[in-house]
Amino acid sequence: METIFSGIQPSGIPTIGNYIGAMQQFVALQDDYNCYYCIVDEHAITVPQDRLKLRQQTLGLAALYLAVGLDPEKATIFIQSEVSAHAEAAWIVQCNTTIGELERMTQFKDKSQNNGRTGVSAALLTYPPLMVADIILYNANLVPVGEDQKQHLELTRDFVERFNNRYGTADQPILIKPEVKIPKHGARIMSLQEPTKKMSKSDTNAKGYISMLDEPAAIRKKIKSAVTDSSGKIEYDVENKPGISNLLTIFSAMTGESIATLAERYKDAGYGEFKTDLAEAIVAVLEPIQTRQKELLSSDELHEILDTGAEKANKVAKKTLQKMRNGVGLGRKG
Ligand code: TYM
Repeated sequence: METIFSGIQPSGIPTIGNYIGAMQQFVALQDDYNCYYCIVDEHAITVPQDRLKLRQQTLGLAALYLAVGLDPEKATIFIQSEVSAHAEAAWIVQCNTTIGELERMTQFKDKSQNNGRTGVSAALLTYPPLMVADIILYNANLVPVGEDQKQHLELTRDFVERFNNRYGTADQPILIKPEVKIPKHGARIMSLQEPTKKMSKSDTNAKGYISMLDEPAAIRKKIKSAVTDSSGKIEYDVENKPGISNLLTIFSAMTGESIATLAERYKDAGYGEFKTDLAEAIVAVLEPIQTRQKELLSSDELHEILDTGAEKANKVAKKTLQKMRNGVGLGRKG
């Protein structure tokens, strides 16, 4: 059985962008792959976080993983910082990655701007090597992510090739080279307010995103005020109608109906009716997830699942880390 690794940062409450681009794939793949789904709290601290809020969000995200339908019997669910091999492997990755490669990452370029008050942490630059470490430690063959992570996956593939060439042999590569898995639709859900910009959980304008924990009233309000256009026609045309096309993509992901079916159904409807139905479709998906998340947060079950997950993850990660240590010649043994 092939292996999957993916993760989400607990740097805020996940949005429906995270749900559609990542979590829906996580659930769909858990039956057919050996899956590791991680809450990447070490990634979250590359930018300043409130310590109590971070812990709350970490547990909240773990509970959301389960609430959306991940089954701990099928997938290993764990917190990154509870497996120390991630930070250790990341160091070895950094030692085999150039500054030039990291400076080319578009996410670094975006995130390192406007950080005047606190400055840019060195880890904002060295964040992709930590992501590389996450993936290689589990020998992942496949990494389901949204479009914005594609460049980091290319870096991972380049790194694996370089590492194997430097430290392995042609017939015995040390690390597995992963493939990226990006959904056909919904790989880049856009902001509701600026539909040419990615929907993000760190957007300062809360009207731009729908959080997975938004109340039904907030969801209805945000969809109602979503930016569209003046043509009044419901059509899928990303270039000329980015707002409506984004809403159609969200609608399709929430109901499982194709974009074409929805566009046909609403072709004679007004934006008002379309938006009302879309808001109800989102509420219908999120409400049961929210209820289940709340139950999990007040149960012991969640901690038991995370303990088991960390134990399983540690075992696998340690083995790969030892292979990497041997490859580069760290320590005394091996
Ligand atoms: P993060 O936490 O920003 O996002 C988590 C996942 O959600 C996807 N995503 C989106 N998909 C569609 N539309 C959007 N608007 C949208 N916003 C976010 C992301 O592509 C991602 O799949 N560096 C990663 C976390 C990470 C990771 C890993 C992922 C750390 N280590 C190893 C895979 C493998 C990140 O910041 O994702």
